[in-house]
Amino acid sequence: MACEQYEAQKGGGADMRFEQNPLSNVRHLIGVISGKGGVGKSLVTGILATELARTGAQVGILDADITGPSIPKMFGMAGTRADSIGGNLLLPSISKTGIKVMSANLLLANDTEPVLWRGPVLAGAIQQFWTQTSWGDIDYMLVDMPPGTGDVALTVFQSLPIEGVIIVTSPQDLVQMVVAKAVRMCNKMDVPILGLVENMSYATCPKCGERIEVFGPSHVDETAEGFCLDVLGKLPIAPAIAGMCDSGTLETELPAGMLPDAVAVCAAFADSSAQRS
Ligand SMILES: Nc1ncnc2c1ncn2[C@@H]1O[C@H](COP(=O)(O)OP(=O)(O)O)[C@@H](O)[C@H]1O
Ligand SMILES: [Mg+2]
Repeated sequence: MACEQYEAQKGGGADMRFEQNPLSNVRHLIGVISGKGGVGKSLVTGILATELARTGAQVGILDADITGPSIPKMFGMAGTRADSIGGNLLLPSISKTGIKVMSANLLLANDTEPVLWRGPVLAGAIQQFWTQTSWGDIDYMLVDMPPGTGDVALTVFQSLPIEGVIIVTSPQDLVQMVVAKAVRMCNKMDVPILGLVENMSYATCPKCGERIEVFGPSHVDETAEGFCLDVLGKLPIAPAIAGMCDSGTLETELPAGMLPDAVAVCAAFADSSAQRS
């Protein structure tokens, strides 16, 4: 497939940007998106946050998946409620290893309560997570985006200073079409794409170590080439990792060295700003 080029169209203007408060200093903001739900976006967000925190960086996660938040549970915060200071500034909850999280699940009285909010209220939640949360100093903030290309994703892209996004995909997707939608949204909104991560790419036989392509052969390399993007990693189906997400122990039990290329593209933002200053 020939390399597709898209004409970038400017998305939201600077006037649509949400302002940060004086108690927050977020240096680099990176989105994790996917064309559809259930492909492992939150898992990739959790792995990147864990690995970046292990480098000694201050890491935050803004859980923009308002109606399907899964970050608090992954970081052992199920049942935790966010505090507030001075009446109107929220405090993110802090995980065992110091990762700061803000999520709709930290604001609900009961975290099994469904979030039945309409578009403007969802956008208001994103604004609150950014403008009315006291984040402190954050080197990398990861935004776990809602699936697809809907209202909340547009709000995040128009209103927050996202420096780049990682697109998560899986082999059972109609890869070309689903990735194309995500790529085109980023191009229309003028948000740089850092690359693709393929989740559930394969499984390893626990007895003989053979690599099994459960969902058939991966096409992520051709897809990436078609859009002039890099493949930043392929994750296996790993029941042990799913177990860590369920038990809230990902940050302490995740084996080292997962998704090194994806971690490196995030870390490169800090390197380039250090060179500029
Ligand atoms: N590579 C994987 N191996 C095993 N389970 C996985 C893997 N990736 C995701 N899962 C599980 O699949 C479910 C959906 O993943 P999640 O990251 O929440 O997807 P998304 O955020 O894209 O909706 C979760 O229960 C997660 O633990
Ligand atoms: Mg999710």
